[in-house]
Amino acid sequence: MWDSDPVLEAVLLVGGQGTRLRPLTVTTPKPMLPVAGVPCTEHQIARAREAGVTRVILGTSYKPEVFAEYFGDGSRFGVELVYATEDVPMGTGGAIRHVAPYLKSRPGDPVLIFNGDLLTGHDIAGQVKRWRDDSADVSLYLTRVDDPRAYGLVPTDANGRVLQFLEKPATPEECVTDQINAGCYVFRRSLIDTIPVGRPVSVERETFPDLLRSGAVVTGFVDDGYWLDLGTPLAFVQGSKDLVTGRAPSPALPGPTGEYLVRPGAEVEPDAILRGGTFVGAGATVGSGAIVDGSSLFDGAMIAAGAFVKDSVIGRGAIIGTGAHLDGVVVGDRAMIGPGNELVRGARVWPGVALGETAVRFSSDR
Ligand code: GDD
Ligand code: MG
Repeated sequence: MWDSDPVLEAVLLVGGQGTRLRPLTVTTPKPMLPVAGVPCTEHQIARAREAGVTRVILGTSYKPEVFAEYFGDGSRFGVELVYATEDVPMGTGGAIRHVAPYLKSRPGDPVLIFNGDLLTGHDIAGQVKRWRDDSADVSLYLTRVDDPRAYGLVPTDANGRVLQFLEKPATPEECVTDQINAGCYVFRRSLIDTIPVGRPVSVERETFPDLLRSGAVVTGFVDDGYWLDLGTPLAFVQGSKDLVTGRAPSPALPGPTGEYLVRPGAEVEPDAILRGGTFVGAGATVGSGAIVDGSSLFDGAMIAAGAFVKDSVIGRGAIIGTGAHLDGVVVGDRAMIGPGNELVRGARVWPGVALGETAVRFSSDR
């Protein structure tokens, strides 16, 4: 009986290496980078669990041991966790096919699939319910964005049936809607077995268009709740501050929401100012008179006295010197920004690099 699902399973696709995040770290897979102190994958597991998921399959193709070390068998996170590791990356559809033997769901059951680099506030249980009510084969969570070009475009008809799936439209003519694939699907379990096995498959470019051609019932679940793809370093900064301020909901946030969240073991001087959803990791220090606004300080980062850090991410053990001014900057693990440097929007400092005193400035010298 569907009404008494013994297990609701979710698959997290966490295979991508995330090259666009390399300025931050070269050793941590993207979904394991802490957002507000907790890996993206943990935020996703916590939300899935809240929606009734009891069993999670991590579809990995890159550094599975990093996930296994942290998540173990999942019991610490309230779910049963299983690892399905591809020998070579099989693409999004290939990764979904690859987890099939690990699933316990029955042929007619719903299986949730999440892209692993997302923070969402969407109604996961509501999406599963709608999938059932519509007797759909696949339901796609859709959201609206200002610029859809970096995503999969998904126009729907008045009844919510998906008309087309256009991954990363190349021309303005292809931008037929601002409604995009928000990276959470409900698949009928049996459908997963129809994805070709043994070769890379893109769910976006191959599986969804094929399903539409074959007349499968593919429906859109439009939800305008919080949504963010963490694919770029500055999206990471945004995600972190949205979690800290509570705009992005997560049961895994390690503390109360507010203007800032400071982890145990961090040291913040009483006259330093933390605001705008700033996160201060364990063992990080913020010196006297420093201002940290909407930024994320990874464990052991050090902000010296009088420094100004806005909308930036400061990697593990990185040092920001006295009076330095950073706005919209990514500083890699253990990099050192000497006193008086001025770095602005988009600047990326690679892990381990050291910038001498006032090495980079943008405004005229005073
Ligand atoms: N296991 C595994 N193996 N996972 C993979 C593989 C693979 O070979 N390739 C990609 N993934 C995972 C990534 O780690 C990520 O979590 C997810 O699949 C999506 O891949 P991305 O590389 O992040 O794709 P994208 O952001 O360009 O586009 C996707 O997400 C958009 C929403 O954020 C597409 O699904 C778009 O249609 C969608 O709009
Ligand atoms: Mg992505």
